[in-house]
Amino acid sequence: MKNIVLYKSKYGNTLQYATWIAEELDWEIRDFSKFKKTEISNYQNIIFGSGVYMGKMNKIKKVLKWFKEKPIIIFACAGNNNVEKDINDIKNNNFNEEQLAFHKFFYLPGGVDFSKVKGVFKIMLNVFKKYLEKKKNKTKDEKAILKGFYNPTNYVNKGHIEEIVSYAKKIEDFK
Ligand SMILES: Cc1cc2nc3c(=O)[nH]c(=O)nc-3n(C[C@H](O)[C@H](O)[C@H](O)COP(=O)(O)O)c2cc1C
Repeated sequence: MKNIVLYKSKYGNTLQYATWIAEELDWEIRDFSKFKKTEISNYQNIIFGSGVYMGKMNKIKKVLKWFKEKPIIIFACAGNNNVEKDINDIKNNNFNEEQLAFHKFFYLPGGVDFSKVKGVFKIMLNVFKKYLEKKKNKTKDEKAILKGFYNPTNYVNKGHIEEIVSYAKKIEDFK
């Protein structure tokens, strides 16, 4: 039986992690949009990873619908550098308790470069940025968000895949 890493990435960080993970495990890798539901039964183990935008993991609704019967490994890649509160928000925004117990969730730190954002997101972000710039008595979080608009961050590092790779190796041996 085969194993595969599926990913959805807009700015490349999730793709980088998916590539490293697939190389390390010697698994297939594919953009989730090129994967068909009918192929699920061809694979023994599946990892799905995607970027987080406005709190939501890309394609997670479809993934949770497709993998109701088959537990998989899921990783989110977002802008924070392993901040527990932000990771909990991502979990709560995208999964219910049963889904979190059924699948195995990991967080991998990405980063943000707002200069790369285009289209509707760019318009929304500019409105938000202007609002924050004008706002008096900004909270700590709001100051951090504003800082991110001016200074791109990048926490992508191969070392972060260790935990997910060792978990995947364990279940691969077990099955
Ligand atoms: C428009 C936009 C919205 C974002 N929203 C969030 C968010 O709600 N929470 C978060 O932690 N990171 C957020 N981020 C950061 C992304 O999740 C981060 O850049 C991630 O690495 C994207 O993955 P990708 O490079 O594979 O597309 C956002 C980034 C952009 C550009």
